[in-house]
Amino acid sequence: MKTILITGGAGFIGSHVVRLFLKKYPTDIIVNVDCLTYAGNLENLSDIDHLSNYIFEKVDIRDSLSLNQVFEKHNPDTIIHLAAESHVDRSISNPMEFVETNVVGAVNLLNSAKNSWKESFEGKLFYHVSTDEVFGALGADGLFTEETPYSPNSPYSASKAASDHFVRAYHETYGMPIVISNCSNNYGPNQFPEKLIPLMISNILNGKNLPVYGDGKYTRDWLYVEDHASAIETVYRKGVIGETYCIGGWNELQNIDLIHKLCDLMDKKLSLELGTSRKLIAFVKDRPGHDKRYAIDARKMENDLGWKPKESFESGMKKTIDWYLNNQDWLKNVTSGAYQSYYSKQYKK
Ligand code: NAD
Ligand code: TYD
Repeated sequence: MKTILITGGAGFIGSHVVRLFLKKYPTDIIVNVDCLTYAGNLENLSDIDHLSNYIFEKVDIRDSLSLNQVFEKHNPDTIIHLAAESHVDRSISNPMEFVETNVVGAVNLLNSAKNSWKESFEGKLFYHVSTDEVFGALGADGLFTEETPYSPNSPYSASKAASDHFVRAYHETYGMPIVISNCSNNYGPNQFPEKLIPLMISNILNGKNLPVYGDGKYTRDWLYVEDHASAIETVYRKGVIGETYCIGGWNELQNIDLIHKLCDLMDKKLSLELGTSRKLIAFVKDRPGHDKRYAIDARKMENDLGWKPKESFESGMKKTIDWYLNNQDWLKNVTSGAYQSYYSKQYKK
């Protein structure tokens, strides 16, 4: 029986990872460490929180003392680290929060693990979940691979790059058994509606403008969140210690093309005349330092670990839209109070 400590399990990707691990490893203990920021929501786990092998610890990873206590109490064999500040626009207005959680928090976690595993690293694993944004921006051609040099451009990606470097350094310096994955943009149920896809769905439902940064010709690779969770479980099971893995969906889209597709799907779902949602599109001032293009070469995941995504963009988008339409109370709950004031500040121009 193992104890797997997952950080950020009340967030978007973390909640899907916690659910998958509880299903795949019913005899292991899953400890979810999350301090519940605006992005953390225990409602995301209401279907599984009664399970006897699930434990929730409300702890802030910036607080090293509390983190050490969690390690003493549960003695985890594996850490899967997802807790982070994750939104680029917020990192532009408040970089220090990103340093504190994404860098200091990650190093606190590494220290707690190192201390807890001081007798031996045998059977232990520190798995750090990261992003493709650490590689910076691509031009019109090429793909990010595990060999791409780091070149982060936003405070968010700089903070994630720093944490990746610390994780690598703990492997080189102390021999800590680590693995890192760098994934492209996720979408799917439970994503906080500050990120592109749920923001657009929420705004269409509320008849609000769809803010498109710059000319909308920025390109991202999109992966359905359950595919990311299954990739994480694959890396956990089969990943080679010390290695990094690029995870992606082979789904490159320019933002404006994605938004057009989404608008048309929403029109169909809401029985609106085709073209109604597209009328809400509003080009707004660009994000500073906006990376032109991200795209992932996920062949190492496929060739070495036998993983590839299951969902196409079309099937994943249909599931996502259905989820948001069927869970409008969830949307209302997470877009109250503090989020309203963030929204009016971010989109005031
Ligand atoms: P999210 O913002 O939805 O969730 C983050 C979770 O971390 C929340 O539950 C929050 O409460 C928790 N958290 C934040 N600060 C904390 C702290 N100081 N202590 C404890 N818990 C804290 O993020 P997400 O989109 O689910 O991303 C999860 C991870 O995956 C992040 O590390 C992110 O960098 C990485 N990632 C995300 C994407 C994406 O497209 N969303 C893509 C690649 C990698
Ligand atoms: P986002 O979901 O914030 O993810 P990331 O910046 O981590 O890739 O944004 C995805 C793309 O959509 C990115 O190119 C920025 C763009 N975008 C808009 O055009 N308008 C918006 O309101 C938001 C939030 C994002």
